[in-house]
Amino acid sequence: MDFRVADLSLAPLGRKEITLAEHEMPGLMAMRARYGDEQPLAGARIAGSLHMTVQTAVLIETLVALGAEVRWASCNIFSTQDPAAAAIVVGDGTPDAPNGVPVFAWKGETLEEYWDCTREVLDWPGDEQPNMILDDGGDATLLVHLAVEAMKTGVRPEATDDDSDEVKVLKALINKTLDEGVDWIAIANSIQGVTEETTTGVHRLYEMLRNESLLFPAINVNDSVTKSKFDNRYGTRHSLIDGLNRATDVLIGGKVAVVCGYGDVGKGCAEALRGQGARVIVTEVDPICALQAAMDGFQVTTLEDALAEGDIYVTATGCKDVITADQMSRMRPQAVVSNIGHFDNEIDVTGLVRRPDVTRVNIKPQVDQWVFDAGTDDERSIILLSEGRLMNLGNATGHPSFVMSNSFTNQVLAQIELYTKHEDYPLGVYTLPKHLDELVARLHLEALGVRLSELTESQAAYLGVQVEGPFKTDEYRY
Ligand code: NAI
Repeated sequence: MDFRVADLSLAPLGRKEITLAEHEMPGLMAMRARYGDEQPLAGARIAGSLHMTVQTAVLIETLVALGAEVRWASCNIFSTQDPAAAAIVVGDGTPDAPNGVPVFAWKGETLEEYWDCTREVLDWPGDEQPNMILDDGGDATLLVHLAVEAMKTGVRPEATDDDSDEVKVLKALINKTLDEGVDWIAIANSIQGVTEETTTGVHRLYEMLRNESLLFPAINVNDSVTKSKFDNRYGTRHSLIDGLNRATDVLIGGKVAVVCGYGDVGKGCAEALRGQGARVIVTEVDPICALQAAMDGFQVTTLEDALAEGDIYVTATGCKDVITADQMSRMRPQAVVSNIGHFDNEIDVTGLVRRPDVTRVNIKPQVDQWVFDAGTDDERSIILLSEGRLMNLGNATGHPSFVMSNSFTNQVLAQIELYTKHEDYPLGVYTLPKHLDELVARLHLEALGVRLSELTESQAAYLGVQVEGPFKTDEYRY
């Protein structure tokens, strides 16, 4: 078996963590119980690109229990939990004779290694090709699309000065694979669909649909209510604080925290920071979200205005250049600057690197102090987490199992839908039907001791719904 992880001797620890997580992931365990005999994913060859954590390990083993073959990479250079990765490779074998799933992921990859790992999950042994993608942020999907475009147009991707380091490395990788004769068109043709985990990846899919470049159908898992209104919000409410504490252990109470973006993730961040006793300032571009933040009791102003006060910054926008290098140079002493959005371009780290008046002092892995005008009377510094990459997975271990069980149960249902009913899904981007969204929630109620009320026939008729649901129209926003 081919694989690349940090250290297979970490597998016993990973296995113990996975076993504990299974108890906290009732939705995934219900999927195994419900579909284990039926094997709906038999024949599915899933290329997975999603943070290689303990929770993802339970997802991977659920997909395998339903019949799928899987290859896996992480979707971020810092997010892999090495014990989990090792346990998934070892499976029920031993470190000397692993028999699990090929994983290509470790904490602290270089950009070159990152894209090589993404390529590995699309590169199946022998004549086989992957026939499904499970993506988080869309990098596996992007690699296939850019490589196919290069093959179809005959124009090799060329790095430009405007490209980020990440894009330059991706373009170099595509050229390398084309030199090796990889037939990306055959790979794309064999892919029946992709299920996408996060807001940013979903944006990319809709954009490809709009410009008619999308090559295969997609299910937008993010916009299942039981994903974005839970993982993005309540998951973040937990893991943001975990990331801040493990990185800096700075007291949050009494500080001024600035949250950029008041979407699902921003709402979780703001609530968590207020819960710790911080005074929270929100920045927004959308008047509806700005009004929501104000009604929730947060001060809403621009980042420029917040600079004089902010001690802790968190970007949660999915946008770019939200905090510039110049703004970082004007922050309060030792302000903590972090991003929890999917990509690192929310904070202009490239701009920081390019400034002549700045020096980087590494404090520990994924924590750097950036000092401006060192040695002068004007010396000041900020602390940047995870080089601007998503800090809850870079500095901590991401969302806890119970909330990820909701997200990943949607992923499993989406994989089954697209793989078993692909003729029902012509090229397009879809969300799961409401009854499946409600099913995911239902599977998580018992563990929390929730007792659900039931409509009578006459009440259901009065509301115009079925007794067993769905209870809301697709337009309802929760
Ligand atoms: P969303 O679309 O619900 O919210 C983003 C908000 O940011 C919007 O309200 C938008 O108006 C605002 N915004 C955009 N540009 C802005 C700017 N320049 N200044 C201030 N506000 C701005 O998206 P969601 O679901 O909250 O996700 C945000 C990011 O977090 C995405 O990149 C997503 O992929 C990622 N994500 C990360 C997770 C993690 O565990 N770290 C979990 C889930 C999502």
